[in-house]
Amino acid sequence: MKILILDTAEAAQERAAEMISEAIRERSRTVLGLATGGTMLPVYERLVACHRAGKLSFSGVTTFNLDEYVGLAPSHPQSYRSYMNRVLFSQVDIDLQRTHLPRGDARDPEAEAARYEATIAQCGGLDLQLLGIGHNGHIGFNEPTSSLKSRTRIKTLTRETREANSRYFRADEHIPSLAITMGVGTILDARGCLLLAVGAGKAAPVAAMVEGPLAAVCPASALQLHPKATVILDRAAAQDLK
Ligand code: F6R
Repeated sequence: MKILILDTAEAAQERAAEMISEAIRERSRTVLGLATGGTMLPVYERLVACHRAGKLSFSGVTTFNLDEYVGLAPSHPQSYRSYMNRVLFSQVDIDLQRTHLPRGDARDPEAEAARYEATIAQCGGLDLQLLGIGHNGHIGFNEPTSSLKSRTRIKTLTRETREANSRYFRADEHIPSLAITMGVGTILDARGCLLLAVGAGKAAPVAAMVEGPLAAVCPASALQLHPKATVILDRAAAQDLK
């Protein structure tokens, strides 16, 4: 695992955006794995700025997001499809047909998970998977005790994760308790992984991921097995590292 510690969150987010841009410039038909969440917003802002400045084209890029809430239609404002359309896809020259997220409103979510996994394989697998980390060490929605060999499937979100995500929902809105998520094994199959974490709130899960035992209680620790994983941190997120 390669660990890069930058002074500020802004510098860490900038470095992550640069890595993604480099991957696209090296291979215009790159298959990117994407993440949502607060950490990624400034990364997508930078990628959009780069595109607007005429320095980056997404025209050949294919994307697969890590996860989607079960029960939310793509048009739901809190769906991850809406998030991605809003913050990235509608702002760049990507072909929407090549942007993939699991369908949260699929009639048979398990079949949808299997279809999603198969589509990733049909597209030749992921060149670079972008990841955030949950306070409990989750990657995607692989909550603690997820099998390190798991594939795309339905996961029940922990109370902690639902509470963390509640900030995006109105008080009267139901917060989904299930998600379709790429598995830990699916993530490990990506040819490269890039995990970004900023802020003191991520210091404990970051230390468990990097220095803790390889264990299903911290799914992010599975990245210790990956031959090409880069972790980008700001000083606050790195503060518990020895
Ligand atoms: C989102 C995802 C999650 C988040 C993680 C961190 O698609 O898969 O694993 O990356 O929960 O979220 P933030 O960045 O909001 O702290």
